[in-house]
Amino acid sequence: MNVSGRRILILGANGFIGSSLTLGLLRKNYDVVGVDLSDFNLNESKKFANFLFRKIDVLQNFDEVESLIKECDIVVALVAIAVPSMYVKNPIAVYNLDYEHNVQVIKTCVQYGKRIVFPSTSEVYGMCSDKAFDERLSQLVLGSIEKERWIYSCIKQMLDRLIWAYGKHEGLQFTIFRPFNFIGPKLDNIKAQQEGASRVITQFAHNILNSKPIKLVDGGFQKRCFTFIDDGIDCLLKIIENKNGCADGQIFNIGNPTEEYSIKELADILISAFKEYPEYTHLAENAEIVSMAGSEYYGKAYEDVGRRVPSIANAKSILGWSPKTDIRTAVKYILDYHLLGKDYEACI
Ligand code: UGA
Repeated sequence: MNVSGRRILILGANGFIGSSLTLGLLRKNYDVVGVDLSDFNLNESKKFANFLFRKIDVLQNFDEVESLIKECDIVVALVAIAVPSMYVKNPIAVYNLDYEHNVQVIKTCVQYGKRIVFPSTSEVYGMCSDKAFDERLSQLVLGSIEKERWIYSCIKQMLDRLIWAYGKHEGLQFTIFRPFNFIGPKLDNIKAQQEGASRVITQFAHNILNSKPIKLVDGGFQKRCFTFIDDGIDCLLKIIENKNGCADGQIFNIGNPTEEYSIKELADILISAFKEYPEYTHLAENAEIVSMAGSEYYGKAYEDVGRRVPSIANAKSILGWSPKTDIRTAVKYILDYHLLGKDYEACI
């Protein structure tokens, strides 16, 4: 059944946020079309009659994407490379996919009058020194051009600015959201061999599991706020629902300001959590932690963010949202999934 306003196109549906959001939307009876290169994270979604998966390489076949945009009500444009090691290893690939493709999507939404829900990133704030990052007031502080790590942040900032301009001058209906270190069982492939191929939590779990040393980049003093995926999806569902247009023209940080930990603390939390699984206790007891310079781990083009705390006042007051899951609960779900093959009962 197609109800007007409820046909959602998710570009990048097989990704971590995409696959979780797809399922959340289907459970709320939206009609969802998911586009991606593969669908291995979408098995549960494929059981729903109101879900259609289209295997499309968006860089090669934008015509097909355009037809799908024409037929939907809302576009959620999640296609992007979002792993820091890639920003320094292959910044041109990051540019081509993250920038060029998304500009096409934005312009097509303008052309056909579609609402766009767009993922910016916590990275846009860069090395901002504010205690908590405010969507409207905080400065976006990036490093020099030779620090290629910032290409992703810079691209996302430009896309935010483009969407904002189309909203203001040509009536594009939009909502921008900024995820802060979303984590969950399906974040990255825990079996990935290559160091740096995953975000930090999956990398550390992989290293413990395979008796490889945990590498703390620059001592692991840098801090992140870790946000459980279901909390993030709960917020995104409120954004998509858009009660009385409350999310229109807004930018929302989506993060968990109370779950701030240094990367060193994260390593300790993971090691302690592993000890709760009798088969894996010995791996946790023997886990080795080493420190490594960022320039050695990622290369000279890397530069880091010391702290990154979201203000979530906007999401609280406008959407009535706040996160509920602490890091230890999230880590338990992640390890249950990888060590016991047990999925958690989604809370959305
Ligand atoms: C990432 C991505 O850049 C963004 O895609 C995303 O928007 C952002 O997370 C987010 O989710 O908010 P970052 O937090 O730097 O940025 O990503 P991680 O790879 O998870 O690294 C976190 C910290 O752990 C960094 O300081 C990194 O240097 C450190 N790290 C990583 C280690 O100490 N050891 C490792 O083995 C891997």
